[in-house]
Amino acid sequence: MSLRADTSDPVPSLDHMPEIGVVAAEESGPGAGPDDIWGMPVAEGGELPADVGLTPAAAGAAGFTGRVGQTLVCAHAQGTPVVLYGIGDPQTADPASLRDAAAAFALAAGRSARLTLLTPVGAGVDSLVAAQALVEGTLLARYAFEPLKSDTGTVPVRSLTLVVPAHDTDAADRGARRGGLLAKATLLARDLANSPPNLLTATRLADCATRVGALSGLDVEVFDQDALRELGCGGLLGVNAGSTEPARMIKLTYRPPAAGPEVPRLALVGKGITYDSGGISLKPADAVHATMKNDMSGAGAILAAMSVLSALHCPTFVTGYLMCTDNMPSGSATKLGDVLTLRGGTTVEVLNTDAEGRLVMADALVLATEEPTDAVVDIATLTGASLRALGPQIAAVFGNAQPLVDQVLEAARRTDEPVWQLPLARRYRGELDSDVADLKNIGGPNGGAIHAALFLEEFVAGRAWAHIDIAGTAQNDTASSWRPRGCTGFGARLLTELALGFTREPEDS
Ligand code: BES
Ligand code: ZN
Ligand code: MN
Repeated sequence: MSLRADTSDPVPSLDHMPEIGVVAAEESGPGAGPDDIWGMPVAEGGELPADVGLTPAAAGAAGFTGRVGQTLVCAHAQGTPVVLYGIGDPQTADPASLRDAAAAFALAAGRSARLTLLTPVGAGVDSLVAAQALVEGTLLARYAFEPLKSDTGTVPVRSLTLVVPAHDTDAADRGARRGGLLAKATLLARDLANSPPNLLTATRLADCATRVGALSGLDVEVFDQDALRELGCGGLLGVNAGSTEPARMIKLTYRPPAAGPEVPRLALVGKGITYDSGGISLKPADAVHATMKNDMSGAGAILAAMSVLSALHCPTFVTGYLMCTDNMPSGSATKLGDVLTLRGGTTVEVLNTDAEGRLVMADALVLATEEPTDAVVDIATLTGASLRALGPQIAAVFGNAQPLVDQVLEAARRTDEPVWQLPLARRYRGELDSDVADLKNIGGPNGGAIHAALFLEEFVAGRAWAHIDIAGTAQNDTASSWRPRGCTGFGARLLTELALGFTREPEDS
C-alpha cells in the first residue's frame, strides 16, 4: 500500500487554478449564467442594489453599512443568492481596500464554487489595478492546504467572473489575468511552505522546481552534494552535515523576451531550510519549533515568483538561488566551535548551529555576485529577533543601497505585504569578529536581526543588495481577510512586482 504522504503532490494548487473571466455589465445579470453566487459592491452609506429587495434600514439592522470587510447575504429577485460586499468610501478606495473587500465577499460565499463579482464603478482606482486586486483578494482568501486530509472542509473556487462596464473590459481583462497569476504564485508558495518536512525534502523541492520550471519557461539547474563540494559551498554542506537527507542548490534562470546589455539584471537568493531543528543547538519543544517546516519560505517565494515571470512578460533578467537542506542534530552534525570555509574562502566559526540560515545564504550570495547582476535581493525566515521587533505582520528589510531598498518598499506597498526598513548598523559589526576564524555566525544577545544582516553583507562584494527577513510574516496564527491561517506565501507577490518594475540605478547614485 502506498502511503499518502509519500506520493502526495507538494504543490496541488498548480493543477487547480480556477478559470478567470471578464464580462461586460450590459451582457449579464444574476441568473444569466451557471453561477452559484453573485457579489455586489455597496459603498459606505451608499445605495443598495434595487433588485435585492432590501431597505437601508433592514441592511443596517443586520449590521451592514458598506464598510470594507462587511458582507450581507441576501436573495436576488430572480432567486440567485447575492453577497453584498462593502467597499467603504469609494473616494479613498485603493488596491489594498479592494483586495480586502473581495476577500470578505469570497469568504461569505465560502460554500460556492462559481463566483461572479460586480466590480465597484467610480472608485478612484484604475480599472486594471482594481481587477487585479479583486482577483487576488478572492483567490487568496479561499486558499486551503488539504491534500493530506481525508475529509476536506472547504469548497475550492472553480471560476471567478468579473462584471465590469463595457468600456473597461480590456483593462479589466489584463488586470484579472495579472491578478490570477500573482495569486497563483502566492498559492504555490503557500503549498510549498505548508507541505510537511517529511514530504518536502531538499531533493523533492528540487524535483518540484524542475517541474515548475518546465511548465513556466525557467531554466532549472540542480546542484547535488558532489557539485556543491566542487563549488566550495561549505555553508550549505556544513548545515547539512547532520542530516540523512542530501542538500540541494537550485539555480533558476528567467530570460526576458528582449536580451542585450541594457536589460536590467536581478539576482534572488532564498533560504530553503526544509526543517530547522536548530541542529546541535536544538530548539526547545515549543510552538515556534513546530512551525519550522516553513523555514524554506524564502526559497518558496522565489520559485513561486519566478514561475509567473514569463506569463507576465517580465522585462528583467532574473536568476534565483535556492539553498535547500534540513538542519538536524546527529553524530555527524556541525558542532559548536567548528569552522566552515564558505564559497569564496571566508572562514566562519559556528557558535550556534541554529544560526544556520546565514551560512547557507552566504554561499549563494557569493555565487550571485560572481555573475553580472545589477542587484541582489535575498529573502529568508532568518531571525526570531525580526519577529520580536515587528510582530507577525511586518517583515524587515535591510540594504546597502537605498534606491534598491526603496524598490522593495514600493513593491511591498503595492502588494500590501508590509515591510519596514531596519538599520544596517555597522557599529555592531565587531560583534561578529571571531577569535579563530574570519567571522563567527552569531553576535551578542540583542539586535539579532541586524547581526544577521551584517553577516550577509560580508558576502555581497559591495554589490547593491537588500535583505528581507520574513521570519515573522511567513506564518499566520489567526486568519484575517485574504490571509488564511497557516503559511502565508509572503513575498511571492512582492518579488514578482519587484522584478516586473525593477530598474537599475545609475552607478554613482
Ligand atoms: N529559522 C530561524 C528563525 C525563526 C525563528 C523563524 C522564529 C521563525 C520564527 C533561524 O534559523 C534561527 O533559528 N535563528 C536564531 C538565530 C540565533 C541563534 C542567533 C534565532 O533567531 O533565534
Ligand atoms: Zn532557520
Ligand atoms: Mn535556526
